[in-house]
Amino acid sequence: MRYAKKWSFYNPVQVVSGPGIISELPGHLPPGEMEEVLLVTTPGATERGLTGRVRDLFKGRRVTILDRVGPNPDIASIENHSSFLQKQKIDFVVGLGGGSVLDTAKALSYLLGLDDSGFSLRDHLAGEAPLPDSPPLYMIAVPTTAGTGSEATPFATIWDERSPKKYSLAHPDLFPDVALLDPELTLSLPVDTTVITGLDVLSHALESVWNRNAGPVSISYAARAIDLVFKALPGLVDNPRDLEKRAMMQTGSFCGGVCISVTKTALAHSMSYPITANLNVPHGLACGFTLPALLAFNARDDDGRLQMAAEMAGCDGISGLSRRLQALFEKIGVRELLKEYKLEADQALELAEQMFTPERSGNNLCPAGPEDVRAILKASLPKK
Ligand SMILES: [Fe+2]
Repeated sequence: MRYAKKWSFYNPVQVVSGPGIISELPGHLPPGEMEEVLLVTTPGATERGLTGRVRDLFKGRRVTILDRVGPNPDIASIENHSSFLQKQKIDFVVGLGGGSVLDTAKALSYLLGLDDSGFSLRDHLAGEAPLPDSPPLYMIAVPTTAGTGSEATPFATIWDERSPKKYSLAHPDLFPDVALLDPELTLSLPVDTTVITGLDVLSHALESVWNRNAGPVSISYAARAIDLVFKALPGLVDNPRDLEKRAMMQTGSFCGGVCISVTKTALAHSMSYPITANLNVPHGLACGFTLPALLAFNARDDDGRLQMAAEMAGCDGISGLSRRLQALFEKIGVRELLKEYKLEADQALELAEQMFTPERSGNNLCPAGPEDVRAILKASLPKK
């Protein structure tokens, strides 16, 4: 990788991390009238008492709770929430949950901040309608998983339930204002969820390295994320309540989010979308199982950046990175997860033609055609 070439870096998210940091939530509001809170979260957070805990932190303010966010939020549900919430005044939004929650919170912070109530999210995402240049409501992201990196990006993934197809709501103002990383919130995550979301972290980091938009600063964040996943994720399989390793994964997730906020994702994500939409494979697994094969594929065109990232992540060059990736996959049981979700080569190969989203696959360092995608799937998946 050459330094004497054009590159850029920008990420305005203020991040505060620490065990129990969620109790400082109200201290991160800007001055001015901030009385009406929208808390976006999941039924699970409410059942665990987390929603009530956050509501109590905002004593004296009016808190509207939206705790019906499920996996893979779609256009219809977000439009429904938005039209319902437009009837009341909301000053700021708190997203408390995983990627689906944070993406829903971002979309709502944008839609509720619009002056023009005639704007249609569907017409924008599935059509040609432009996005009005309007600042979203102030937003605080509190991730309860370590994977999505949504707390550090200006994108929200939204599915069209009619197709099913994945879209990205993207606007430079869609970065959360603050990300609060409290590792205690991830202590109770089941091992499977920890592994699957951890694969998403790794995927963001590696995808940002073998990426045409990479620069030296984004590669530093990627190497940090890769190193943290290698050091923390195997231990969490044995002891999911290891607070230090949970904090390492949250930091890795944030760093991975910073990476893709600069570069966007690449071929692994592009290949994952039809797998998630048609075969119901969770996002982290769908964009993670191809990583070893994609590393080998992109290493052919390495201009030094993969070598640099591998060394910065403490690996013995690209071959060392590849060996550590294989060892990680064995330890965290990727093959077993693929079996659990019944993801086999034959089904995935049938979707190969749909695996090219130009704004993702076109970022890949090594240009890939249909035959390359088929070879990557065959190398990554068990046969019947
Ligand atoms: Fe991802």
